[in-house]
Amino acid sequence: MNNTASDSHKKEEIIIRRAKPKDSPQIFQLLLDLAVFLKSGKDVVLTPEEFHDDLFCEPPKCQCVVATTAQESDTIIGYSLFYPVYSAWKGFSLYMEDLFVKPEHRRKGVGKLLWQKVTQIGLDMGCKGLRLTVENWNKTAKDMYTHHGCVDLTEALDEHPMYLNKAGMEKLVQEV
Ligand SMILES: CC(C)(COP(=O)(O)OP(=O)(O)OC[C@H]1O[C@@H](n2cnc3c(N)ncnc32)[C@H](O)[C@@H]1OP(=O)(O)O)[C@@H](O)C(=O)NCCC(=O)NCCS
Repeated sequence: MNNTASDSHKKEEIIIRRAKPKDSPQIFQLLLDLAVFLKSGKDVVLTPEEFHDDLFCEPPKCQCVVATTAQESDTIIGYSLFYPVYSAWKGFSLYMEDLFVKPEHRRKGVGKLLWQKVTQIGLDMGCKGLRLTVENWNKTAKDMYTHHGCVDLTEALDEHPMYLNKAGMEKLVQEV
């Protein structure tokens, strides 16, 4: 798969690669920027240290690919986080948790290259599909995903993602 793209204006070469341990502070800052974009900045309770350990422990709890330019190969301009999930009906898939490109680097093909890289990793791992969630108001991302074949499961199956926080988990296991 070709992991490079050229900006028609600046002719920047884009590099997509696996995250390295030294990248984690920059990725964490972009993760915070994405949370603010999603109007959820105050909901981030993960620490930079926890994030680093989750990415680089063995086996990793979460995986990450990053985008840089060839000219500034240590500066992260976008990232995607993903991890394996399993469906009893469909089998093994990847869940793409985050996809984010710095505002000044958007519309140059970087987001699509990151998404393609995650998709290729999934295919190489034998995935049956790729799962992701997008806010209903995020028209740019929603249009991008549907344009490339993603099916809206809330519309198609009336599925609603659910979440139990740690306090809820602890309460549940204590109930007799
Ligand atoms: C969504 C996002 C990752 C796209 O990244 P990007 O680098 O600008 O996207 P690309 O340049 O690779 O474009 C990918 C496709 O989306 C389309 N697209 C991207 N931004 C668009 C916009 N503002 N308006 C219309 N189309 C747009 C492109 O035309 C392209 O279409 P194609 O695949 O048919 O050629 C980026 O806008 C972003 O980080 N947004 C904020 C975070 C976010 O919404 N993340 C996704 C949900 S978690």
